[in-house]
Amino acid sequence: MCGIVGYVGSRNAAPIIVDGLRKLEYRGYDSAGIAIHDGKGIEIVRALGKLVKLSDALEKRPLNGTTGIGHTRWATHGRPSEVNAHPHAAGPVAVVHNGIIENHVAVRAELEGQGIKFLSDTDTEIIAHLIHRELDQGAPNLFEAVRKALGRVVGAYAIAVVSRAEPDVVVAARFGSPLVVGIGEDEMLCGSDVTALLSHTRNMVFLEDGDVVELKQNGYRIETVNGTAVDRKVKRIDWSAVQAEKAGFKHFMLKEIHEQPDAIEATLRGRIDLQNGDVHAGEMGVTPEFAKTLGRVYFVACGTSHHATIAGRYWIEKIARVPSVTELASEVRYRDPIFFPNDLVVAVSQSGETADTIAAVKAAKAAGAQVLALSNVLDSALPRMADGALYTHAGPEIGVASTKCFTTQLAALLLLAIYLGRQRGALSKEQGQEILQALWETPSHMREVLGDADYMHVIAKKLTHAKDVLFLGRGLGFPIALEGALKLKEISYAHAEGYAAGEMKHGPIALIDENLPVFVICPRDSHYDKTLSNMQEVRAREGQVIAIATKGDEAVMELAQHMVWLPKVNDDVLPLLTVLPLQLISYYVANLKGNDVDQPRNLAKTVTVE
Ligand code: F6R
Repeated sequence: MCGIVGYVGSRNAAPIIVDGLRKLEYRGYDSAGIAIHDGKGIEIVRALGKLVKLSDALEKRPLNGTTGIGHTRWATHGRPSEVNAHPHAAGPVAVVHNGIIENHVAVRAELEGQGIKFLSDTDTEIIAHLIHRELDQGAPNLFEAVRKALGRVVGAYAIAVVSRAEPDVVVAARFGSPLVVGIGEDEMLCGSDVTALLSHTRNMVFLEDGDVVELKQNGYRIETVNGTAVDRKVKRIDWSAVQAEKAGFKHFMLKEIHEQPDAIEATLRGRIDLQNGDVHAGEMGVTPEFAKTLGRVYFVACGTSHHATIAGRYWIEKIARVPSVTELASEVRYRDPIFFPNDLVVAVSQSGETADTIAAVKAAKAAGAQVLALSNVLDSALPRMADGALYTHAGPEIGVASTKCFTTQLAALLLLAIYLGRQRGALSKEQGQEILQALWETPSHMREVLGDADYMHVIAKKLTHAKDVLFLGRGLGFPIALEGALKLKEISYAHAEGYAAGEMKHGPIALIDENLPVFVICPRDSHYDKTLSNMQEVRAREGQVIAIATKGDEAVMELAQHMVWLPKVNDDVLPLLTVLPLQLISYYVANLKGNDVDQPRNLAKTVTVE
């Protein structure tokens, strides 16, 4: 996730673009850059780090001109560095891009074969070279060149492009990544969201996938990539600037909860080989030979990431048939843990900077184990230390309580299990295809569950005075019970416990009375009958059951006070759905209590101390 801005008009473009990028910094802050047409040619300034570094660079080297583009980066391909910062130039053009180009390796090889030299490690640079090639091969203008070049690109993008030959034009396009056009007076803008544009105009056009737009000072035209002219409605946006930054949501956490379907799509993009029921290993560093011979998958993580690893362990054992353990990193580092050289140690961490997880990885490396870092932050400490990386590509998570980073970790772990299962022959092509197909359909099922948010609000209202809440689940429902309890306690400050449903009779059953709300994760999976019995035990003691169950389940309906319905899906993708109502309910409870949802008391987003 990155932020892009484009401007063409009569004012000096650079301050307007930098101001827009400031509003988009929540989308990434690894580096920033700007390209301005100064009437003679295109001048580019880029800087590593937050936007303030770009502002400093622009003070030393001011850019003047009325047409330009800018970018704030969240690195996905190529480490954060000035060389990898956008805009990327090729011949007369400069490009900024938000998204992931799936076929960049093949296109890069083709272009290199034609003698083109690449300056960065990014996937974006191929777009600049493709557009340049189209211009060289006779495209009449930048708009046509962009349209034709995009015909070669597979993946997700929002781009903005300027060209030396057209000082008063910005061309922009989108497919899978957001892009908004702002219609000003004697000026046109574009940006990754309305926040970047609101101080200049409230009249916006939301581009659709496949749209290419040419912006000029006094107007614009839109065509599809295939060359058909289209007309998109102009909408008036009345949000305040603060509302806009959160895309109209009250808090970042709520926005991030709703971003999950898109985030999962980003995690899956370019990794699924549906035809062979397999997964591309990418940068994981796990060769097919090592996958065949490894003796154990040993997970280390903290907090929410640890919960993801519990699901990961289930999948690794079930799908890849490899022994697997998961340990809290804070425990591992102070024990005398035993690692073997044929262990694959998987460190799971949203930030990639958690001190305890780093210490556990050091111990694993010292014992000669191979380490894979599963992280959301490119080139953070853990991926740098590890032998390979599996990035979740969820984009920055601003709310302290992890939501989209958790579900994208789940998706990535399921991909890892499928990869290992296929290499080891434990999973057939057809079985692989079945799970991958289910995973592929998950974003649309997530949208369906998130569509019931208003009902989660109704349930939350019943819980605002609850002092204790119990969460129960079995199998893949167990880590979700733990995660549901953690979400509720960290932002609503209610005491909550997550338990394996089968453990209830070994202690927590003593807590149950008519005042105790009990969430039971009870979809129609292979544990269903057993979990249903636990639900009956709760009801027999007057506990208040809130069930997360499969649509139309009458047996559950008879027992529960509140029902949250899920679509019927493959068992393995269930945790990506069952957690959604729990995130929403926790959010609403905390919000109803008036808590600071995005920055709950005593917590920090990245825990770099032990
Ligand atoms: C809870 C939460 C934390 C983190 C934990 C590990 O919502 O976000 O429990 O999961 O601090 O952080 P990472 O994943 O960055 O290692």
